[in-house]
Formats: sequence, C-alpha cells, structure tokens
Amino acid sequence: MRQIIYRSTSTADTRRAVDEIPGILRQAVARNGVDGITGLLYTQDDAFLQAIEGPPESMTDLLARLYRDDRHRELQILVDRPVEHREFGDWTMIHRDRRESIDAFDDRLRVLLAGVSDETVEHFRALQPA
Ligand SMILES: Cc1cc2nc3c(=O)[nH]c(=O)nc-3n(C[C@H](O)[C@H](O)[C@H](O)COP(=O)(O)O)c2cc1C
Repeated sequence: MRQIIYRSTSTADTRRAVDEIPGILRQAVARNGVDGITGLLYTQDDAFLQAIEGPPESMTDLLARLYRDDRHRELQILVDRPVEHREFGDWTMIHRDRRESIDAFDDRLRVLLAGVSDETVEHFRALQPA
C-alpha cells in the first residue's frame, strides 16, 4: 500500500477550495471505490490537503490525474511512503473543512487522525492559521 499526502492551492475564482468539493467528491468516491483508494480531503480557505492510500499502480495513475487537474496548482508532496495498513480509515474519500474554533478543530483532528504518525499530524496542523 502506498500513502501520499500532498498540499495544493485552489484555482477557483472565489479562492475557496471548499467550493470545488462537491464535484471532486463525486469523481473521487466513484473512482476510488473501483481503484481501491481511500483517504481524507481537508480544505481551508484556498488550500487543499489530501491523504490518499491504495495499491501502488492505482496511486501512480491517480497522481498523474491530480497533476493534470487545473482545479488546483502548486501540488506539493509532503509524504510518500509505503504503509502496511491504511492510516486514514476506509472512506473512499471523506471531506473536512476547517471552520470550527481551533479547539474544536484540534479535537476533531485527533479523532480523524487516530493511528496516524505524529509527523503526519503535523502536516494537518500546519494548515491552521496561527
Ligand atoms: C483536490 C483534488 C482531489 C482529488 N481527489 C481525487 C481522488 O481521490 N480520486 C480521484 O479519482 N480523483 C480525484 N480528483 C480528480 C482527479 O484530478 C481527476 O479529475 C479525476 O480522477 C478524473 O480524471 P480523468 O478526467 O482524467 O478521468 C481530485 C481532484 C482534486 C482537485
């Protein structure tokens, strides 16, 4: 199983990544189910942070499609490593937007990221404003 976590920036005029979510989720849920890919898509303002996990061949294909997708830019890989077990659960793709207070955000993050390494959690934490 290959795990990738990346950051990117929305190209939506509104500068809000969350506006792109319905369309992206429709594609992701339909396709990831077939490809054996699962993951978590986090948004805040114009930022996307996505964790994807799955078989290496499916992941290579998805990554190529993601690089071609003009709904986002500046795709930056934060983590790319083999994992024995899925760390982000069994969702074909779950979405979370950072809207809550920092405390509530931290609580939800802890639950969502239970079982994830500290280093990985830091990537999600880094998405918050100071
Ligand atoms: C932030 C973001 C996350 C995405 N996540 C996925 C995903 O998990 N699975 C997926 O199949 N497509 C995802 N997509 C869509 C792909 O980039 C691509 O548009 C889609 O897979 C269809 O590709 P195709 O038109 O080449 O067949 C995502 C797009 C964006 C912008």
